[in-house]
Amino acid sequence: MSEKFARLTIDGSDVTIELPVLSGTLGADVIDIQQLTSNGYFTYDPGFVSTASCESKITFIDGEKGILLHRGYPIEQLAEHSDFLEVIYLLLYGELPDPQQKASFGTTILRHTMVHEQMLEMLKGFRRDAHPMAIICGLIGALASFYHDALDITNEHHREVTAYRLVSKMPTLAAMAYKFSIGQPFIYPRNDLCYGGNFLHMMFATPCEDYHVSPVLARAMDRIFLLHADHEQNASTSTVRLAGSSGANPFTCIAAGVAALWGPAHGGANEAVLKMLDEIGDEKHIDQFIAKAKDKEDPFRLMGFGHRVYKNFDPRAKVMKESCDEVLSELGLADDPILKIAKRLEKIALEDDYFISKKLYPNVDFYSGIILKALGIPTEMFTVIFAIGRTPGWIAHWHEMISGSYRIGRPRQLYTGPKSRDYPIDNKS
Ligand code: CMC
Repeated sequence: MSEKFARLTIDGSDVTIELPVLSGTLGADVIDIQQLTSNGYFTYDPGFVSTASCESKITFIDGEKGILLHRGYPIEQLAEHSDFLEVIYLLLYGELPDPQQKASFGTTILRHTMVHEQMLEMLKGFRRDAHPMAIICGLIGALASFYHDALDITNEHHREVTAYRLVSKMPTLAAMAYKFSIGQPFIYPRNDLCYGGNFLHMMFATPCEDYHVSPVLARAMDRIFLLHADHEQNASTSTVRLAGSSGANPFTCIAAGVAALWGPAHGGANEAVLKMLDEIGDEKHIDQFIAKAKDKEDPFRLMGFGHRVYKNFDPRAKVMKESCDEVLSELGLADDPILKIAKRLEKIALEDDYFISKKLYPNVDFYSGIILKALGIPTEMFTVIFAIGRTPGWIAHWHEMISGSYRIGRPRQLYTGPKSRDYPIDNKS
């Protein structure tokens, strides 16, 4: 029971509504407004700017201080000491694995990487020039039709095996979508490679010759996945929870998450950053783009800048920036012209009053696009990479919701349309 209350008095009424104030382990207290509706009121909060939609133990963000914790561990420490598999385990099970748990979990994940051969037939139904996010969205949803054996969401074992399948098969499906778009044969996963290395192998190997996965690049790929693994109740995760709250199967919920991720204000930003840098084309055009971003009449925004929650440097962006330098030097691309434009743009924006006063800092997508480009990944695949990384987060949130008590998500509205009126029968003839 809460010991603190907020009291709400409505003008013109003598009713005072007492609302419990709840405290979490970290972060702002929340006012529990569930009983408002029995008093005849709803709250109004477009974009959920001030609304906690659920209780969660998975991820904490302090946007003012630039802090991101998964199960209590700072993202910087996870990026330094863990790999993606460990973080997946942490998100799903709440604790870091010991070496034995890690080895057994890794084997399980690798043994689920193959997809049903019939998926290739489905793939062939897409246009060659289809955006890979459209393909992934379709293929993930379609996975539900292959696994009727494990779709009982009330069964703990079914939920676990579905989590393995989704985490394991996402990179395979992503690489299949890419190979299809360039007309190359699909490359099967290799169980002796790490998660990131295996993805690079499926993307870039061909049946004609050996493909060597550079450990530095495999590590960079793994880190990109790790840095995207979860981010609290963002748009795609909230979509997964909302879809899941109706009892829908997890494959379709994750497909819904992929759809929400695709937009340029969310996961689509990494693709948009690269397009913007290409459009800028030369350092001498940067001022013009900064001016466009500041112009209220112009819808243009500096892609890769700003965040709903972070009003400080995005902690993921700091790590990504370091990775970016490592990868570019490994590939001998430190003088890449696009990178030069990016660095200059970042410097100018960070010193500009408009960006300072609105607390607009580079976010994770600003650097991830540059690394992905250096790794040879085509721009259309960037958001797909984000989706692979975010999959364990989506599943962890879905699982947390389904294994606790939940109700179907059903927001209300402030209705401003026509009042009730009679059908105009006289105008009918
Ligand atoms: N360039 C120029 N102005 C901006 C930008 C930007 N990138 N982002 C925000 N603003 C301005 C905006 O015009 C508004 O100004 P005013 O108060 O004068 O109207 C103010 O800053 C606040 O913006 P907002 O749209 O109210 O903020 P939001 O919290 O609704 O939006 C955002 C957050 C991420 C959608 C937005 O910053 C944006 O569109 N950024 C570019 C896209 C991007 O990089 N998205 C990736 C987010 S990180 C990856 C992820 O987690 O999905």
